[in-house]
Amino acid sequence: MSGNAEELFGFIASALAKFIADEGPTKVLGGKQRELGFTFSFPVRQTSIASGTLIKWTKEFAVDDAVGEDVVAELQKAMEKQGVDMRVSALINDTVGTLAAGSYNDEDVVIGVILGTGSNAAYVEKADAIPKLKGELPKSGNMVINTEWGNFFSSRLPTTEYDQALDEESVNPREQIFEKLISGLYLGDIVRRVLLKIATRCSIFGDVDQTKLRSPFVLRTPDVSAMHHDETPDLSIVAEKLAENLKIADTTFEARKMVVEICDIVTSRSARLAAAGIVGIIRKMGRGTAGDKRRTVIAIDGGLFEHYVEFRQCLESTLVELLGEEASESVSVKLTKDGSGLGAALIAAAHSQYAN
Ligand code: BGC
Repeated sequence: MSGNAEELFGFIASALAKFIADEGPTKVLGGKQRELGFTFSFPVRQTSIASGTLIKWTKEFAVDDAVGEDVVAELQKAMEKQGVDMRVSALINDTVGTLAAGSYNDEDVVIGVILGTGSNAAYVEKADAIPKLKGELPKSGNMVINTEWGNFFSSRLPTTEYDQALDEESVNPREQIFEKLISGLYLGDIVRRVLLKIATRCSIFGDVDQTKLRSPFVLRTPDVSAMHHDETPDLSIVAEKLAENLKIADTTFEARKMVVEICDIVTSRSARLAAAGIVGIIRKMGRGTAGDKRRTVIAIDGGLFEHYVEFRQCLESTLVELLGEEASESVSVKLTKDGSGLGAALIAAAHSQYAN
C-alpha cells in the first residue's frame, strides 16, 4: 500500500502469472492472446474503455509515483516484464463492475454500490442529462456514472471529535469524509477512539495499559461485527476481543454491554448514511416514488454488507423508513458477491477484440 508503482503493478502482474501457471494448458480458444478486465477501485479520469489516469489514492494507499499515470499502461508494462501475454481490454471501477454483474442477472439492477473497505456507488443516467458529456451520445441513450460518493462532504454530515481526529491522522486528511464515516476500513478505528477516550476519563475498564488502545487500526471492523453480534449470555466474545486486540482484560458485564452499545451506535450511523446515499441516487433517477411500478434493484458488493448482519439489517430498514412503506415495495437490495470482479470480466468479454 505504500511502495512505488513498479512494486504495486509488479505484484498484480506476478499474481496473474501465478494464476496462469496454476491453470495449466491454455483455455483461450485458438491460442489467441488473453484479454483482461481490470477492476481498479480508486478515482480515475477515464479516457477510454481501456485507459485512465489515477486522480488520487484512497483507503490508506500511498503509492505517490502512480498518481497522474495511466494505470492500464502501468499494468501492461508490468505484465510484459514478467512475460504475461495478456491485454487489458476494459478498465472498470468496482461499483461499475458490480452494476454490470448485477444487471447481467437482473435487468432491473440500476445502481451498483460497494460497502466494503471503501464505499462508492455507480448508477445509470440518461446521457442527455450529463452536461459534461460533449460530442456524440451513446446509442443506448444511457451512460454509467461513477459518483465517487466516498468523497462527499457537507457541513450537515454529523461528524464527531473521533471522526475529526481519524481524518487528521489519515494519509488523506479532509478527503473521503463520507467514506470515513461509513466504510469497513474505518469503523473499527472509530470504535477504538471512543473506547480510548472512555479509558482515559473513567475507570470502567480498570487500570489498563493504553499502548494498544492508542495504536491506529488494531481494532478491525470484523472484530466490531463479532462483538456487536455476541449472543453469549456473559458477552464472552466481547471480553475476548477486548483482551486480544486492545489489552483490556477482566471486564465487567456492564462494561461489555456498553461496548456493544458503542458498536451499535457507530455501525447504525454508517448504515443509515449509506442508505441515505442510496435514496439520494434513487431520487435523482426519479424512481422509488409511491405508484412507481418499475422495480429498482441495487446490487451491493463488499464485506461490510456481506458479513456484518446488523449493518445490513439497519441499512435495509432505513431504506424503508426514508422511502416510505409503499414506495419501498418496488426497491430492493441484492448482495452481488464478487460482482466487482465478475462485472469487469463480463465487460471485457463484451469489448473483446475477438468479439466479432
Ligand atoms: C474509491 C472508489 C471505490 C470505493 C470502493 C473508494 O475509496 O475512491 O473508486 O469504488 O473505494 O472500493
